[in-house]
Amino acid sequence: MQETHHVAVFDFGSQYTQLIVRRVRELGFFAKLYSPEDIAEIGDPGAIILSGGPKSTSEPDAPDIDFERLKAFGVPVLGVCYGMQLLNIKFGGSVKASNKREYGPAALMPTCHKDLYEGISTESQVWMSHSDTVQDLHAEVEVIATNQHGTPVSLRWPGGFYGIQFHPEVTHSHEGLRILNNFLLQAKELQPFHIEDFKREMIEGIRDRVGTKQVVCGVSGGVDSTVLAVLLKEAGVNVRAIFVDNGLLRKDETIAVQNNFHRMGVEIETIDASDEFLTGLAGKEDPEEKRKIIGNLFIKVFWDTVGDAEMLAQGTLYPDVIESASNAKSKASVIKTHHNRVPKILELQKQGKVLEPLAELFKDEVRELGAALGIAPDILGRHPFPGPGLAVRCPGAVDRERLKIIRECDAIFIGKLKEHGWYDRVWQAYAGLIPVKTVGVKGDERSYEWATNLRAVISEDAMTAEWVDLPAQLLRETSQDILNEVSGINRVLYDISTKPPASIEWE
Ligand code: XMP
Repeated sequence: MQETHHVAVFDFGSQYTQLIVRRVRELGFFAKLYSPEDIAEIGDPGAIILSGGPKSTSEPDAPDIDFERLKAFGVPVLGVCYGMQLLNIKFGGSVKASNKREYGPAALMPTCHKDLYEGISTESQVWMSHSDTVQDLHAEVEVIATNQHGTPVSLRWPGGFYGIQFHPEVTHSHEGLRILNNFLLQAKELQPFHIEDFKREMIEGIRDRVGTKQVVCGVSGGVDSTVLAVLLKEAGVNVRAIFVDNGLLRKDETIAVQNNFHRMGVEIETIDASDEFLTGLAGKEDPEEKRKIIGNLFIKVFWDTVGDAEMLAQGTLYPDVIESASNAKSKASVIKTHHNRVPKILELQKQGKVLEPLAELFKDEVRELGAALGIAPDILGRHPFPGPGLAVRCPGAVDRERLKIIRECDAIFIGKLKEHGWYDRVWQAYAGLIPVKTVGVKGDERSYEWATNLRAVISEDAMTAEWVDLPAQLLRETSQDILNEVSGINRVLYDISTKPPASIEWE
């Protein structure tokens, strides 16, 4: 479908390109990503952005764009980093290649406070990530901002062309979103972004690719795979959704997941592989060994069930696809990527049999899409739960007795959070087991039992987290109920560790 009045973002290979698209959507406008070679197919855009990229413009195979066509659109164009350097060359200037990289924060000092820099501070932190710099500026170019050393970092050429050396799309550029918005305000008319339009487009894309084939997908009850399964159902394709019970789930979780999918009109196949998982884990104490066993068994059970798939759908999200700027990807992301890229899947991918419709989205956008698909807020608001389940909440060996204790403690804690209205205010919460025996008194008798640790954190992306200052009454009631009702526990601890240095899970 040819778009009109949208924001066309040309991808020159930067790891942040998708983030530009996301920021434009966040500002309420429809944006679409294109390869520079596809300039003839972008329809009738309202504004154009040229992304950054890893190459130097001086390299022989540096990506290029048809400048005459670009000018012919007659709409505002913003070149970001590599995009700005390319524009400078197109306008008759040059670029100085360098091996020295400027990476990190810098000061942006606008020379005038209109159009791009309307309302922007006289000194604003921006994020740089480049080696080359612009030089030999075109006679008609205006330097509209410099850095703290007086070096030009933002240019304006005639005809609505702008350049910025920094990355407005990353949050380290403190006023980046406003600068991007100021740029978009230069456009006459832009198509608004509605999640409904997006949903429709995704559904059409899925139908086109799948046709009458059967699509298999694994579901966990988590937000990503749930949205994926419902999206496939909405597209009317033939879906086979598989839920593997690894025996490491929370209290009554299998039933809850089955009921939730039933409510959404998606029938799932439950594979009870708990014996296989618990046998594989018996006596294993090393956290990484436990993870490996669980990961490999999951892959085995899933593929033994599926056999030869005509098509496979995965809930891979954008952050699972890219390397983050700091390389500090969350553990969940790394593991999910690892899972989604096993040899069997890579083979299917080569044959064009893997569908990843959420791969352009971020977590909060997936939730928004889920809401547009009619998924209930209680399902979309479920806390994240790790693939290896309760095994990472029980340091050392896992067995049925320990799992039962964790399940009981966790159910009491989560119940209290819900009762006190705190469940939706924390990002993730759980009770785990500390398999260390301490002395206590229960009734009139001495007890010698384990402890449970309660953990509740707020976080944005799981890479950092803070513990939550829960009301004392909530903790008091939780502790009382656990000590009264869960046999095997005589001590309740609240974990007040931030991440870093601690992690959210105990293993
Ligand atoms: P950590 O413990 O690394 O957890 O601070 C960050 C987030 O990732 C989840 N997590 C996992 N998810 N497989 C997963 O699918 C794993 O092995 C795993 N380990 C941690 C954790 O629950 C938190 O949301």
